[in-house]
Amino acid sequence: MRILAFETSCDDTCVAIVDNGTRVLVNTRTHQNDAHTPHGGIVPEVAARLHADRWRGVLEEAMQEAKTTWSDIDAIAVTQGPGLGTSLLTGTTAASFLALLHDKPLIPVHHIWGHLLSPLLDRNIDKARFPALVLTVSGGHTNLVKLHALDRAEVLGKTRDDAAGEAFDKVARVLGLGYPGGPAISKMAEMGDKNAHNFPKSMLEKDSLDFSFSGVKAAVKRHTEQIETPITEKQKADICASFQRAVVETLTKKVKRALGQPTHANVRSLWLVGGVSANTALRRSLEELAESWGLDFACPAKMEYCTDNAAMIGGVAAIMVAKHGLAAFPSRALDARGRWVLPEGL
Ligand code: KG4
Ligand code: ZN
Repeated sequence: MRILAFETSCDDTCVAIVDNGTRVLVNTRTHQNDAHTPHGGIVPEVAARLHADRWRGVLEEAMQEAKTTWSDIDAIAVTQGPGLGTSLLTGTTAASFLALLHDKPLIPVHHIWGHLLSPLLDRNIDKARFPALVLTVSGGHTNLVKLHALDRAEVLGKTRDDAAGEAFDKVARVLGLGYPGGPAISKMAEMGDKNAHNFPKSMLEKDSLDFSFSGVKAAVKRHTEQIETPITEKQKADICASFQRAVVETLTKKVKRALGQPTHANVRSLWLVGGVSANTALRRSLEELAESWGLDFACPAKMEYCTDNAAMIGGVAAIMVAKHGLAAFPSRALDARGRWVLPEGL
């Protein structure tokens, strides 16, 4: 089963070709960072135009690299949502056009399901132990999900305001570090003192597994604005390190809280996914937690499967096909779903 997958939910144009659900033949992507950096965030209209400009080139590159022709493709998968409506629409339109032109089944995939199952890429699915507790931390989402099985998810908690990655991006903007903020902050944090400041760690109500990052973001902003002389590199590094510590400790404590709840005593694995899972301090902290609880720990096998990518969309599509059969996915014109609550089942 060879699946061609598209992902254009935000600001990256991504195309992948995946065999049998986990074997990634090619995973291509063009960033739009340069176009959005001057604005300190993503401009939807600019993102959609760049997707429309670029998808054909990215597709051709992927087909060539994987030495694949249209007759080798069994189905096309595309992120239908959630995300930026106009960005999604360029992807669903391109995928629909190709599916109709080449008479291929078209599989609509939920973006978060893609992140949830991303640790399976390049790995042996049969070795995964369920239930798995999955922390999804990206620019648009922060979720704690219990995967009861490969195709069944239960949302335990989500952010009430900013996503974790969004907090990194906003703090980076305050410090003049550009977009996306996560990589820049974690790099600066290496040179700083993580105990220099005690930024707030919001744990919310006693049993809540929801998240909130607006408090820590606002505290960093307030602190930075109070510095009267031009901010030094050392001051910036200390702020980055302390901010990162606050986020890492909050996320780790939340996961620990979930593991301690009696209904989750059956959890056997802990997975960390999404763009912020590229953060080494967070990885280390959760890996230690998993070890102390006797759980399997997994992050996506490669950094390129952490941030938005099309391989994870192809992976989910293959599981959907295994469950429902190819006939369940006709070739058709597919709309985008900018807002789409995570379906419990695939
Ligand atoms: O998953 P992703 O590519 O996009 C969404 O689905 O939102 O995640 C992008 C986010 C950005 O907010 C970026 O700042 C963050 O991931 N990020 C990081 C790191 N690398 C990327 N955050 C913290 N540390 C990193 N090393
Ligand atoms: Zn994402």
